[in-house]
Amino acid sequence: MHKMTGDDKTMNQSVVIIGASGHGKVVADIVIENGDQVVGFLDDNPNLPEKFIGFPVLGIIDEYQKYLDAKFIVAIGNAIIREKIANKLKNVKWYTAIHPAAVISKLDTVIGDGTVVMANAVVNPGARIGRQCIINTGAIVEHDNKLEDYVHVSVGAKLAGTVSVGKTTWIGIGASIRNNLEICADCMIGAGAVVVKDIKEAGTYVGVPARKR
Ligand SMILES: CC(C)(COP(=O)(O)OP(=O)(O)OC[C@H]1O[C@@H](n2cnc3c(N)ncnc32)[C@H](O)[C@@H]1OP(=O)(O)O)[C@@H](O)C(=O)NCCC(=O)NCCS
Repeated sequence: MHKMTGDDKTMNQSVVIIGASGHGKVVADIVIENGDQVVGFLDDNPNLPEKFIGFPVLGIIDEYQKYLDAKFIVAIGNAIIREKIANKLKNVKWYTAIHPAAVISKLDTVIGDGTVVMANAVVNPGARIGRQCIINTGAIVEHDNKLEDYVHVSVGAKLAGTVSVGKTTWIGIGASIRNNLEICADCMIGAGAVVVKDIKEAGTYVGVPARKR
């Protein structure tokens, strides 16, 4: 059975988005597509206008406690910053943003709190996705994958079956990961790379086959 580690959706939800950026726009779109409400954005950039894509810029992130009745999502691509902010926010309920056009198996999949799954992404049976991950547009997370917290699978990247990916690792746009591999924490897999062996050391890997840079 597919389950989200937070509350499953029972009614319309109000959502505060942290990060008024390009990624924040896509997250806002998912909130709306799900019939939920965007309360507004919190962002530390002092130069933002009063509204961002039509929604209020509510203030800086430290003001989050004014909105504890709503759910929160951290819409910041950088995993280190995403982790730092997620750890800083106390007593918040996380919104897990799954686009209605994402295909998520109902057979034994888990999607962690605060994770974003974008349109046309596929998550197949047995996949375990951690907290605050990003499964970007058209990404494929095959059966029995295990993605730890803060992993980002970029646009169109493909993870074949039984791949595991360590915390905060970023799989670049269009990269492919062969089946039955392990990629450790804190890696950057470059755009278009093809990973054919386990990666056991943190770092940046590019090319076909992917090698450490
Ligand atoms: C791998 C990456 C992180 C390197 O970024 P960087 O450190 O700024 O590297 P540079 O652009 O300065 O390039 C350094 C060298 O690596 C090469 N290189 C960079 N990215 C590469 C890639 N994906 N594959 C092969 N070679 C790559 C460059 O051609 C350059 O080679 P040169 O020294 O011979 O000229 C980046 O290029 C990348 O692939 N990012 C992925 C971004 C992404 O997926 N975004 C999607 C968001 S949804």
